[in-house]
Amino acid sequence: MDTKYFLYLSVWVIAIGMASCSPDLPREDIKRRQLFTKDWSFQLQDTVKKDTLTGNWKLLNLPHDWSIEGKFNEKHPATFSGGALPGGIGYYKKTFDLPSEYAGKQVYIQFDGVYMNSEVYLNGKLLGKRPNGYIGFEYDLTPYLNFEATNTMTVKVDNSQQPNSRWYSGSGIYRNVWLTVTDKVHVKNRGTYVTTPEVSKDRSEVHAEVEVVNNHAEDREGVVKTSVLFNGKKISEKEQTVRFKTGDTRLVTADHTVEKPELWSVETPDLYTLKTDIYIDNQLTDSHKTPFGIRSFEFDPDKGFILNGEHLKIKGVCMHHDLGALGTAINTRALERQLEILRGMGVNGIRTAHNPPAPELLELCDKMGFIVMDEMFDMWEKGKSEYDYSLYWDEWHERDLVDFIKRDRNHPSVFMWSIGNEIPEQWGERGAEIGRKLSKIVKSLDTTRPVTAGMNPPIHTNDNDVTLQFDEPAQPNALAGSGALDLIGYNYAHQTYTQHQINFPETPFIATETTSALATRGYYDQRSDSIKRWPYRWDQLFLDGNPGNTVSAYDQVSAPWGSTHEETWKVIKKHDFMSGMFIWTGFDYLGEPTPYVWPSRSSYFGVIDLAGFPKDAYYMYKSEWTDETVLHIFPHWNWEPGREVDIWAYYNNADEVELYLNDRSLGKRSKKDDDLHVMWRVPFEPGTLKAVSRKEGKEVLVKEIKTAGKPAQIKLEADRKTISADGKDLSFVTVSIVDVEGNIAPTATNRIDFELSGPGKIAGVDNGDPTSHESFKAKNKKAFYGKCLVIIQSSGTNGEIRLTAKGDGLNAGTLTINCRQVPR
Ligand code: GAL
Repeated sequence: MDTKYFLYLSVWVIAIGMASCSPDLPREDIKRRQLFTKDWSFQLQDTVKKDTLTGNWKLLNLPHDWSIEGKFNEKHPATFSGGALPGGIGYYKKTFDLPSEYAGKQVYIQFDGVYMNSEVYLNGKLLGKRPNGYIGFEYDLTPYLNFEATNTMTVKVDNSQQPNSRWYSGSGIYRNVWLTVTDKVHVKNRGTYVTTPEVSKDRSEVHAEVEVVNNHAEDREGVVKTSVLFNGKKISEKEQTVRFKTGDTRLVTADHTVEKPELWSVETPDLYTLKTDIYIDNQLTDSHKTPFGIRSFEFDPDKGFILNGEHLKIKGVCMHHDLGALGTAINTRALERQLEILRGMGVNGIRTAHNPPAPELLELCDKMGFIVMDEMFDMWEKGKSEYDYSLYWDEWHERDLVDFIKRDRNHPSVFMWSIGNEIPEQWGERGAEIGRKLSKIVKSLDTTRPVTAGMNPPIHTNDNDVTLQFDEPAQPNALAGSGALDLIGYNYAHQTYTQHQINFPETPFIATETTSALATRGYYDQRSDSIKRWPYRWDQLFLDGNPGNTVSAYDQVSAPWGSTHEETWKVIKKHDFMSGMFIWTGFDYLGEPTPYVWPSRSSYFGVIDLAGFPKDAYYMYKSEWTDETVLHIFPHWNWEPGREVDIWAYYNNADEVELYLNDRSLGKRSKKDDDLHVMWRVPFEPGTLKAVSRKEGKEVLVKEIKTAGKPAQIKLEADRKTISADGKDLSFVTVSIVDVEGNIAPTATNRIDFELSGPGKIAGVDNGDPTSHESFKAKNKKAFYGKCLVIIQSSGTNGEIRLTAKGDGLNAGTLTINCRQVPR
């Protein structure tokens, strides 16, 4: 929230002649569901001469985000709040031949998300439009398919009317596309719903509801078998004979029992599968699998969050959907890497701010054990930017909400539905009314999870309090009091949290969004012990700040509606009834560069920067949120002689830390009361800083930072040196500029050029600098505070990728990445 509400100042031509191709349609085998992402052609519409395209069709594979390939410019209608990248209108086309075995089948296409305003055509016939850029949707292709001739699918994507988002949206078919081929009698897409009405360590009841469609011209009788599988082994099976009426959808239910279930938890995210087999005339006509988990949970007004009978604090982060240099084009490994880095800091919860996430994110959260707050809307009837979803609200919100819940309700990682974030209507009766209506829709589809919303704040505090985000009227939050919500969701206002049980004695607490602390990785103001609230007010331009639009990475700056990292965590950690929190944000994201305006174009909120490099606060959380032993000292040790520098240490599993400068003790420090760090103020002299943490006098950890000499060489470190040769997998290579001894040069800005040989390509480059206007798709990058990142993607073949990184006056770095045909 910045400047955000305030600063929003402000023929379809199909080129003929592409060769037809159907590379991802296997002839030998009709797979029920296959990716339909290869060999699409793309081009943009001319922005000046409408109704004409800009040039030749470009062949590419989906997922694809065209905006990320563009140039940063403050004049783009998305504005810097939307990432300052271009939007426009794009056209996608794919030609394909169908195997004759598909005749007589049902063929569906599923888009996981297209940003935005898509229109899908098959062989010239409009299948449908979908304004919402985050919702998945499906069309039945069956009536329009050619079996004798080539089929052409065309998709128009219109992201030209901007601003339509408060953050970077990306543009295009940026999520996966699937082709589903089934028999006439089949399980409907999103047609299964698995619940676990009774759960204990000894046994669990599993209730399955399956919608089966009959597209035959006559009724059919068949057998539906549902089975529960664990690790591929069948542990329960039920079967029934069912009559399917022509053209109808039949709901089939079955109850199973699982003895001694392996309960899903954040440490042991065990998954079961519900398998549905349909037999007509003793022939298997459909087989469909739904992963699910067995777990019990509750949010209790006094005890907080309880998972499988045990108290658990939700230590969550909010995440927008972009993947930094990769834009919004979904990539499973890039998502997995984000989750791994977050897990390293102790995060166990994700809020999908403020929209339905990619299905792959939920699949990963199921497998890796994250508690997800799944969010649908950032606005209802009243918009937040000129061309946003409020324009489509009346016509689409019910359909979109239903599709969202049906898509996500089997994921064991999903624990909360959020029907809205900071909804402008929250203060009035209309907010209560819409809230109740939405909550009712959710509950008609899923009663196993609480409904919440991020409110600012649910409790009114003080009319003139500049720390609040809006000029709230002096009246209670109508949405919070509407009865629509099972969980009262607080955005910010940590000063009010201890009042929660007085104001809402019956309704449990969740901090849906907290903190909004600000930092630039690697940059430190001296001194560190004054707290700044930037910008001064949410509705005033902030024209102060630091040169170069930097923000100190000591945890000392936050938005006025938020807090430093320490301020909020100190409150939440003390009270069990506070179920948990979602920090704004885990990673930096494109757009919303609070407190600054252009030339900044991405956020400062992340605990981790846009390139995936942790800022220092990461280690505060790690020391509090994990059992791993931590000793993190900062800043770097390259300053002007005599300058007083504050040195902070985050530590755990120890009673004290002693700091030495060039072997001279600077004293011992211990955290007192609720302190989360210790500090020394030291006049700089070059050399070695050494910190030693001790418990009962015994050394626990030692950390050293040395004054670095001149930048001399390039160090390359890959997160994975072997990747799958599937054309998608990624290796994230950290590039550090180091001195002759290997010490990182903490302020180095050298430009690094990358060369690559072998079966791979550079998928993106970044350095985490929110003000950089270099292209994410270039083959070079300037270092930012000593580091940058190059993302390598495999092509489709086995072999060795060799990366060379060069920079003037620096010894080059080289690295080899193996690509192998291993399924991921
Ligand atoms: C919140 C809002 C987020 C983001 C954040 C920045 O009010 O929900 O989307 O704008 O502020 O501090």
